[in-house]
Amino acid sequence: MNKIKILIIFGTRPEAIKMAPLVQELKKRNNFFDCTIAVTAQHREMLDQVLSLFNIRADHDLNIMTDKQTLFGITTTALLGLGQVLDKVKPDMVIVHGDTTTTFAGALAAFYYKVKVGHVEAGLRTHNKWLPFPEEMNRKLTGSLADIHFSPTETAKKNLLKEGVNPENIIVTGNTVIDALQTTVKKNFVFSTAALNDIDYTKEKVVLVTAHRRENLGKPLDDICHGLKKLADDFDDIKIVYPVHLNPAVQNTVFDVLDNHERILLLNPLDTDEMHNLMARSYMVITDSGGLQEEAPSLGKPVLVLRNETERPEAVDAGTVKVIGTEINTIYKEAARLLTDKDEYGKMANSVNPYGDGCASRRIADFLLYYFGITKSKPEEFRS
Ligand code: UD1
Ligand code: UDP
Repeated sequence: MNKIKILIIFGTRPEAIKMAPLVQELKKRNNFFDCTIAVTAQHREMLDQVLSLFNIRADHDLNIMTDKQTLFGITTTALLGLGQVLDKVKPDMVIVHGDTTTTFAGALAAFYYKVKVGHVEAGLRTHNKWLPFPEEMNRKLTGSLADIHFSPTETAKKNLLKEGVNPENIIVTGNTVIDALQTTVKKNFVFSTAALNDIDYTKEKVVLVTAHRRENLGKPLDDICHGLKKLADDFDDIKIVYPVHLNPAVQNTVFDVLDNHERILLLNPLDTDEMHNLMARSYMVITDSGGLQEEAPSLGKPVLVLRNETERPEAVDAGTVKVIGTEINTIYKEAARLLTDKDEYGKMANSVNPYGDGCASRRIADFLLYYFGITKSKPEEFRS
């Protein structure tokens, strides 16, 4: 039997974290799969941190990241480079993840090469072309190019069905980020970032923050930082811990407003196992990230989302996540309520798992075997 040749393409930190469990699963089944990994390296240091943690070696590395990179630059350099990779690898299927510009360029390159596309984390929608930008359109366009859709939730599957996708080509798998989370969080974890071992997690309430989205750069991020500063000024029992994205546009604003405050700890991007264990010990999360909206609810941490819309409604419906926007006083008010109102905190601090059960990668691999005719039945779908 010929092995199924899979080319996995990714380029940024979140894609790498969410593809790592799938890479490991396909490599484990190397009697069926011949798996090649191509990274665009749209992110460099933040991608390498993940590759190193999960022990993944890229077979092809386009190394495209530049300072102040633009959507035009990322799209065109990734597309050209991936064309050459496809020419060498000649896969049976390309698998991409999520909604980044690497994702879209990967799917487009596969289409131009007339190779099938599998899309992991398919079907999330805000139905607003501009939010998140450019991710909503990246994900939608990738969905149009995809042959099979690995949807993390039933809601995501329904979005695809409404767009006319054949149900035979969709499977609800759960999100692979929950697979990753189950391997990283450990009770007695020791941080390699010394400052995180110095925190007394029984006395200080850790407010874990990340914010980096393109649509929040400039005034919204500046407002976010002022909201956080006001919080740190007024509450002496909290520690705001903010690992800052390496984008200089993020670094400049965040360090300008929040540096040198005794209750604010600004850090470089953390290794993912550190991030997950910090989240597990934190009191609450304030973020504009997609991944954190999925991880924190499964750890029972309330999340305030620094956006006006989310493509991840499940944990909002479950009451663990609240979408609050980026206005200074709203951030202060919502966070202050969670710090002072035990009932409100208790309502949100529920461990819910709408995003997965840790078996998403296994379902994806099983579905691939079914799709390529090796097995006869479609695997059971994830149900929350
Ligand atoms: C990208 C994705 C976004 C995803 C985010 C996750 C696009 C258009 N955006 O946004 O969907 O949510 O990643 O973090 O696909 N940089 C470094 N080192 C790194 C990474 C970034 O220095 O390891 C700096 C570079 O100066 C780079 C800048 O950050 O030019 C912006 O990176 P880019 O990938 O364009 O945008 P992100 O905001 O990271
Ligand atoms: N993350 C990490 N180190 C950090 C900040 C985030 O490992 O310092 C992880 C986080 O746990 C989540 C993912 O990175 O799994 C989210 O990535 P990011 O915020 O870059 O992108 P987004 O989720 O917004 O697409």
